[in-house]
Amino acid sequence: LDSRIEAVLEQLESRSRSEQAQLAALRERGVQAVLAAASKFMLDVGRDTGQLLNTLVRVTGARRVVEIGGSVGYSTIWFAEAVRATGGKVISIEIEPAKQDEQRQNLEKAGLLDQVELVGQNVAEVLPGLQGPLDLVLIDHWKDLYIREFDAVLPKMAPRGLVVADNILVPKTTEKEMKAYVSHVRGIPGIRSFTLNVGSGLELTCRG
Ligand SMILES: C[S@@+](CC[C@H](N)C(=O)[O-])C[C@H]1O[C@@H](n2cnc3c(N)ncnc32)[C@H](O)[C@@H]1O
Repeated sequence: LDSRIEAVLEQLESRSRSEQAQLAALRERGVQAVLAAASKFMLDVGRDTGQLLNTLVRVTGARRVVEIGGSVGYSTIWFAEAVRATGGKVISIEIEPAKQDEQRQNLEKAGLLDQVELVGQNVAEVLPGLQGPLDLVLIDHWKDLYIREFDAVLPKMAPRGLVVADNILVPKTTEKEMKAYVSHVRGIPGIRSFTLNVGSGLELTCRG
C-alpha cells in the first residue's frame, strides 16, 4: 500500500479502537441504544476483512463493486485501492450526509476519490435503479435490512458475482437477524453460501 493510503487507514484504525469501549457499553443496553448513537461511530469492518475484500477484488478482477453502508470510508478505501488495479469503480452508498462528507475527505487524503462514486441516499431508493452486472457487493448497514438488500441485488449479480455480508458472528446482539439472513440466502436454489470466520464473520454467497 502506498504511504498516503496506509496513513489514512492507520488514523481510522486508531479512531476505531477508541470507539470499541463506548460501543461495548452501548451494546449492553441493546440494539436500540447502539442505533440511537450510530451516527457517531465508524463501525468499520476492520483490517482483516478490509484486506480480504481488497484481495477478492484483485484476484477476481472485479470492476463493478457496490458497498451498502460506506460510513466514513474504511472499507471503501480497501475496495478503491483494489479497483484502481482492476480498472473498476466502487459505488458506495451511505445515508448519513456527515459520514459521507468525512468519507469523501478520507478518500481524497488517500488519493482514491476518483475510484469511487459516492451515493448519499437511502439504499432502498438506489438499488432499483442500479445497473448490473455487479461483480462484488458488500452488505454492511443495518442488520434487519440485509435480506431485503440481498433480494434486490441478486438479479443484478454477474454470473460469477459475489455477495459478502458482514457481522454474521459479531456482535451477538444482532444474532437473530444474522441467522435469518444466513438461512434465507442458503435456502435459495442455485446459491452457494458459507460463513467465513474473519473479522466479525462474513457470509460469502455466489451462484453455484
Ligand atoms: C456498519 S456501518 C458501515 C461501515 C463501513 N462498511 C466500514 O467498514 O467502514 C453501516 C452504515 O450504514 C449506513 N446505513 C444504515 N442504513 C442505511 C440505508 N438504509 N441506506 C444507506 N446507508 C445506510 C449507516 O449510516 C452506517 O454508516
